[in-house]
Amino acid sequence: MGRLLLSSGQVSVLLSSGIVFLFTLALFLSGYVLQQRTVHSLQAAIKPRLPKPLPAPVAVAPPTLDVKWARPVGGRPEPDENFEQYMREQTLNWNRLGYAQVVKEHVELCSAVMLLGDLHKRKSPAKRILLFPRMWLRKREDDEEDDQQLTTTKRLLRTAVRRFGVQLIPMEPIVDGADDSLPSSYSLASLYSLTDYERVVYLQGPGMLLDASALDSLLAFSKSAPMAAFPATPDRKALSTSLLLIHPSDAEFKRLKAVRASEAMTDLDLFRASFSAPESLISQWSLSMGNVVYESQNLRNAIDGFNASIFEEATTYVRLSDPEIPGPEYDVPYYDRVALRPKNEEAKAAWERLYERFRQRRMEICGLDLEVWTKPMLQAEERENEEL
Ligand SMILES: *[C@@H]1O[C@H](CO)[C@@H](O)[C@H](O)[C@H]1NC(C)=O
Repeated sequence: MGRLLLSSGQVSVLLSSGIVFLFTLALFLSGYVLQQRTVHSLQAAIKPRLPKPLPAPVAVAPPTLDVKWARPVGGRPEPDENFEQYMREQTLNWNRLGYAQVVKEHVELCSAVMLLGDLHKRKSPAKRILLFPRMWLRKREDDEEDDQQLTTTKRLLRTAVRRFGVQLIPMEPIVDGADDSLPSSYSLASLYSLTDYERVVYLQGPGMLLDASALDSLLAFSKSAPMAAFPATPDRKALSTSLLLIHPSDAEFKRLKAVRASEAMTDLDLFRASFSAPESLISQWSLSMGNVVYESQNLRNAIDGFNASIFEEATTYVRLSDPEIPGPEYDVPYYDRVALRPKNEEAKAAWERLYERFRQRRMEICGLDLEVWTKPMLQAEERENEEL
């Protein structure tokens, strides 16, 4: 646009020389065409999904439930000054952006495929990637139960590829030579091996995706950094693994492997030891988009005036995590459910809806019923121990 406004000095020079004028015009036109092309390709690149204006406002607040969700006030924060400049420089290639799930054991597979399936259903333009133990590809013929499990696993892997275009990536144990039949031999650090990708988002399952556009924006418009994690607490002192945005690189992968080889530890501890907070946390600004990640148990803290539809509008992903039950994959007896669901009517409705949607999607996508919840206390303990 600016090129049209020539100063009077320039105009007189042009008038005095028709040749110069023609050259200038030709140059201007070719420049203009190029510029339009760039604009068009940029528009085309981000066309599948522009950052949607998110309904819920903001405040730098942590995703807790208070009146903010009942009666949103205030506006969205201003994007930072360099954002437009940055957007122009950025070549947005959705083939280099992806959502990854890491599955370490069979029981986690369905939830991972569901999440990737929901991203597909919501037409996220980013790639979908599933990392799973390479040993699953080896046929085993020992006992019958294993065979049955492996049959389901192979069926789900095929579903992921055929229905949702998921790229399957077999992974090795994080420490060379570790027992490849143990889930604990695998690590989220394997995400760093995905060096074909510029940025990868990992979401901790099981959960329900309510909206993909905020995550697509996060993927598309973030700067590449080795680690940008969802903060464990609102005070931003430590990272969590509920949502990770990473830039895969061989260097980081090697570094993490070395740290992990020196000592057995959980992925959370590995990342906390390897990336400092708050530097390795997702920016306040990105998180101000709404509830990017929310844990279902927090619905119990809902106060009067909580509005389930506003909550659902403003929330991107809900991790279905209530400490008393092993997970949404299990059929919890009615009276146990009643005891732990939120008391607030609206929050209760939201909570019930999330678990019910999970159950339905599980059937639709994996063809699996809920698991029987046989030994509640024992299972809850086992799960806790796993998380330690
Ligand atoms: C929740 O908010 C929506 C939209 O603002 C409104 O239509 C609905 O009546 C509210 N529900 C309750 C129970 O207040």
